[in-house]
Amino acid sequence: MTNKRQIKFGAMIHGVGGNISGWRHPEVQTNASVSLDFYKQQAQKAEEGKFDLVFIADGLYINEKSIPHFLNRFEPLTILSALAAVTSRIGLVGTVSTSYSDPFTIARQFASLDHISGGRAGWNLVTSPLESSALNYNKTIDQHPDHATRYKIAEEYLEVTKGLWDSWDDDAFVGDKENDIFFDPSKLHQLNHNGEYFSVQGPLNIGRSKQGQPVVFQAGSSGAGKSFAAKGADAIFSAPSTLESAQKFYADVKKQAAEFGRNPEQLNIFPGISPIIGDTEEEAERNYEEIANLVSIDKALAYLGRYFEHHDFSQYPLDEAFPDLGELGKNSFQSHTDRIKQQAKEQNLTLRQVALREATPRSAFIGTPEKIADVIQTWFEQRGADGFIITTQVPNTLDIFVEKVVPILQQRGLYREEYEADTLRGNLGLPFLESRYVKELV
Ligand SMILES: Cc1cc2nc3c(=O)[nH]c(=O)nc-3n(C[C@H](O)[C@H](O)[C@H](O)COP(=O)(O)O)c2cc1C
Repeated sequence: MTNKRQIKFGAMIHGVGGNISGWRHPEVQTNASVSLDFYKQQAQKAEEGKFDLVFIADGLYINEKSIPHFLNRFEPLTILSALAAVTSRIGLVGTVSTSYSDPFTIARQFASLDHISGGRAGWNLVTSPLESSALNYNKTIDQHPDHATRYKIAEEYLEVTKGLWDSWDDDAFVGDKENDIFFDPSKLHQLNHNGEYFSVQGPLNIGRSKQGQPVVFQAGSSGAGKSFAAKGADAIFSAPSTLESAQKFYADVKKQAAEFGRNPEQLNIFPGISPIIGDTEEEAERNYEEIANLVSIDKALAYLGRYFEHHDFSQYPLDEAFPDLGELGKNSFQSHTDRIKQQAKEQNLTLRQVALREATPRSAFIGTPEKIADVIQTWFEQRGADGFIITTQVPNTLDIFVEKVVPILQQRGLYREEYEADTLRGNLGLPFLESRYVKELV
């Protein structure tokens, strides 16, 4: 084992893919989003490549304009539980919203996944950007909370969940048959939380896991999202478009983590990237064009609309300046919509250009395996990333990445040849999380 800082990888498994028209590619299996075999194959491939984790994203509202993958897909915790049974080392991370769920249920579900997988569970905590999500939960929530309130709710939610996860000390369940003692009552802690948004007594009806508690990820990149992660998450996903913006994000979040009294090395930053790989530069370009050409302008406009509360962009002229949208998008995917507006303005882009660019994003991660490895190395060494979430626009990207890019990074000593640990926390370089009650005694 080496002490040198190592790159981490996560694989986002998302069925027919994140590109709105990618499902039409000849090599895409049209039922991939609900195919256990597909998810199993991808998770096992990622594990073969010694990835830290697989990641299942999620959202809570669809309409007929949503991308095909969103229309018919697995609920994250359910598919992750199935993947736990067919993998042994890789972390299993899924999205759950704090705006549309209850801490007791979610604490219980992730703790269960953590036990089923032997300490490999992770929760990607999001606050749900889509206003219309409220339409699906209107028995309890009649209005989508505003952006700031969503993050306030999330903060209390996480506090409650972490409290519930420590309901039992690690050695609470003694199982002493002779003396009829199933558990030691002094090792049971009732939470009794009474806050602004939640009232939860506890205890949770499942104990702590092999890694102590599931790992907490956070995916919002707005100001509120970043400081939330800096305070309470173990890792954060980011979506920078350049090395410079990645470095800025990285420095900001790490600084904030230190200000909260944390060790910044224990907050891993994972930009999401979508590599487009070819054996030659020309082949990579062709692979990009093949996907980009599947997207009609109508589909691209619909895709863009989703980020702005399914705004109808077909009402604007295509070849004129990107429209002034005022505050639209502020209450949804804030960091994403801010970036789109800013880039359109700075680069004088037309609506057509913005829509096509967003539908099939193109980044520095395009080219031969050597070139992709070079860019990854640069971003990692120049502190734009601790690891990367690999998403797939072109089919078989994960397989090619594992077969061709991973060995290059291993040869360069930047990436593990074997897992260091058998828990997600361990592989991410995070220590076992002691119970708060143990800390109190020290
Ligand atoms: C790799 C990656 C994965 C993400 N996964 C999800 C997800 O599953 N669900 C979700 O609502 N947001 C997800 N997001 C975050 C959204 O893009 C969006 O930024 C966020 O939900 C809105 O929060 P914000 O206003 O703080 O930016 C992800 C972001 C990245 C970079």
